[in-house]
Amino acid sequence: MSSKDVQKFFDEKASAWEENIPLISVTRAKEVINSLDLGGVKHILDVGCGTGILWEPLLQNTRKDTRIFAIDISLRMLLFARNRLSPRITLLQADALHLPFPDGYFQWLFCYNTFPHFEDPALVLSEFARVMTPAGRVLIFHSKSKEEIDAFHKAVGSTVKDHALPTKECMANISKASGLEIQRLHEGHPGYLFLAEKTC
Ligand SMILES: C[S@@+](CC[C@H](N)C(=O)[O-])C[C@H]1O[C@@H](n2cnc3c(N)ncnc32)[C@H](O)[C@@H]1O
Repeated sequence: MSSKDVQKFFDEKASAWEENIPLISVTRAKEVINSLDLGGVKHILDVGCGTGILWEPLLQNTRKDTRIFAIDISLRMLLFARNRLSPRITLLQADALHLPFPDGYFQWLFCYNTFPHFEDPALVLSEFARVMTPAGRVLIFHSKSKEEIDAFHKAVGSTVKDHALPTKECMANISKASGLEIQRLHEGHPGYLFLAEKTC
């Protein structure tokens, strides 16, 4: 499985993505983002943005001068995401492995319903850490538990059949190696949530 296969898989899903987003995904995104203090944040990154499910709560919870950057590997997803664009959002096609941003640029990075699709989670996490400011926060989250997500991908089959969230032990190891300190790591209900802070 390569990034190209994943891109093709999601390109093919893009036209029906928006109408099939479950309500629980929208609700979970709002609940988690509404619970954060994003008041003084200058730059936010949304990795694997799909059609932009996070943008409404992000726009509502941030100041007018906060800039949101959103990337996705699937050009077709981005074409549909344009319907939700606002002047505060910059949309780019990019691979999470090679983020087109300078070191130390973001105070917050969100990665929603996307992390299991990365071929090399350790390299992606260190790329996340690279673009974070000191004490910047990385939030990887889902609307379902790890067990449910891993089983769902198995049931979907094809390209995503083996796409699973890394174990707690693996996340602990790769976070440490990337210079990220885990603040919270919850695998169960109401949904997977990994929150880490850049230590240096
Ligand atoms: C399950 S969808 C989730 C989309 C959106 N976050 C949501 O919750 O509706 C996963 C997204 O991650 C994107 N993606 C997968 N691998 C990627 C990579 N290496 N770099 C950037 N985006 C990637 C896919 O194209 C897809 O849009």
